[in-house]
Amino acid sequence: MSWPVPLVPAGDGPMFQRIARAIVDDVGRGRLVAAQRLPGSRVLADALGVHRNTVLAALAELEAQGWIVTRPARGTFVADTLPEITPPRGAAARRRSGGVGFPLPIEPRLELRVTGEVARGELHLSAGVPDPRLFPVDALARAWRRAVRRDGRRLLTYASPEGHPALRGALADMMRSIRGMACVADDVLITRGSQMAIDLCARGLLAPGDRVAVEALGYRPAWDALRLAGAVLVPVAVDGGGLDVAALGRLAARRGLRAVYLTSHHQYPTTVTLGAARRLELATLARRHRLLVLEDDYDHEFHYEGRSVPPLAAADVGGHVVYLGTLSKILAPGLRLGFVIAPPPVIARLAALRAAMDRQGDRPMEAAVAELIEDGELERHVRRMRTTYLARRDALVAHLRARLGSALAFDVPRGGISLWTRVAPDLDTARWLAACAARGVHVSPGSRYTFAGDDPGAFRLVFAPLTLPELDRATAVMAAELPVRRRR
Ligand SMILES: Cc1ncc(COP(=O)(O)O)c(C=O)c1O
Repeated sequence: MSWPVPLVPAGDGPMFQRIARAIVDDVGRGRLVAAQRLPGSRVLADALGVHRNTVLAALAELEAQGWIVTRPARGTFVADTLPEITPPRGAAARRRSGGVGFPLPIEPRLELRVTGEVARGELHLSAGVPDPRLFPVDALARAWRRAVRRDGRRLLTYASPEGHPALRGALADMMRSIRGMACVADDVLITRGSQMAIDLCARGLLAPGDRVAVEALGYRPAWDALRLAGAVLVPVAVDGGGLDVAALGRLAARRGLRAVYLTSHHQYPTTVTLGAARRLELATLARRHRLLVLEDDYDHEFHYEGRSVPPLAAADVGGHVVYLGTLSKILAPGLRLGFVIAPPPVIARLAALRAAMDRQGDRPMEAAVAELIEDGELERHVRRMRTTYLARRDALVAHLRARLGSALAFDVPRGGISLWTRVAPDLDTARWLAACAARGVHVSPGSRYTFAGDDPGAFRLVFAPLTLPELDRATAVMAAELPVRRRR
């Protein structure tokens, strides 16, 4: 019996009325909700220490007033539609304060408002996620069962906050062989997505007031985490070659900098790769100013033309780069698996912080994913996805050129899962995207990526999670909504 504990007969008068009033009060407080089943009269009588007839009288009174209904052979339930409730004294004031009975501190200013679920039939070119329909469900489910059957005792209890040793080892191997990094298992901390990794780095490696350079067109969730730790963010321009490292150098020399957060491989959201000269320049700057370089390499494997460029971390001899990775793009964001690669003293510091917040990760899932990596399944999946996403990129490019050639101008992305396009200046982009959204095609406005929240005259189209027919439909809607939306 989940209710009534404790039901206190309320007020004066005959006992049956006091019981009835107590039940109404519990409905008013929300301890009993519409359609909830009530315990039987015998159970209630025992719990209250009264005769069963007293309870039956209380229930009859409540039924007459419309608070409860009796369904033959099924029991007694709180009514689906309740009579008007006069709120108990104080409840109205509590509702005005949103039900919070203590002073809330000033709300931190956060940029990211998490978007909800994707509704059926809607097409989102806004969500930077892989296609969940292509997720290797069976392989992962098999690996999960195998791992828990074999190692359940160790997987289902408390363990170290750094993450499962098998996954730390498997990721280190993968980073060495695919991304050219010199790392071992001890250099890896498993996190719940790179978001936790950024948060841990912000709180564990920076002091409040530290100045941190970020890309002026960039990733707001990272800015949120950095700001929450007290960092003062300084935007640095991004151009066709990625972060403007010369501007970063001037900033470091002039105003002092503690760190830089950047997406060097596929700049977010433009997808351009930081060139070799800028990489060297950045390494020199890091040495000269003793900078912490937070390198967010979120979708490394999805590179379509030529070889992917090794991370900054692969060439880092001075110990400046803390590398942030994620499985959100190569597997799925819902798994919440990310990782940090850094020297062991940094890993130990971040792991201690993590333990205070989240104790440890999802051990069974970490073990299962380690298996997927060890038996080559993840690599095969990535290869399949690369081919699929390449076809989707090409389809999007072809549709945009054919249908929106006069409105949009873009370079074909060499990597990543999205395309960044400039918009003709005579277009009212906000109205255009609103019209598309009304027809179920969603595109994020470019202002979502700018540091100042202004319109950069460009937007991002994510192609990875949409099939070829879906890309066809989405771009057809965009084209159909275009002509009537031209500014005069
Ligand atoms: C720049 C960037 N970093 C990291 C991530 C991944 O975040 P997480 O690992 O927390 O899912 C994303 C995903 O959208 C991203 O765009």
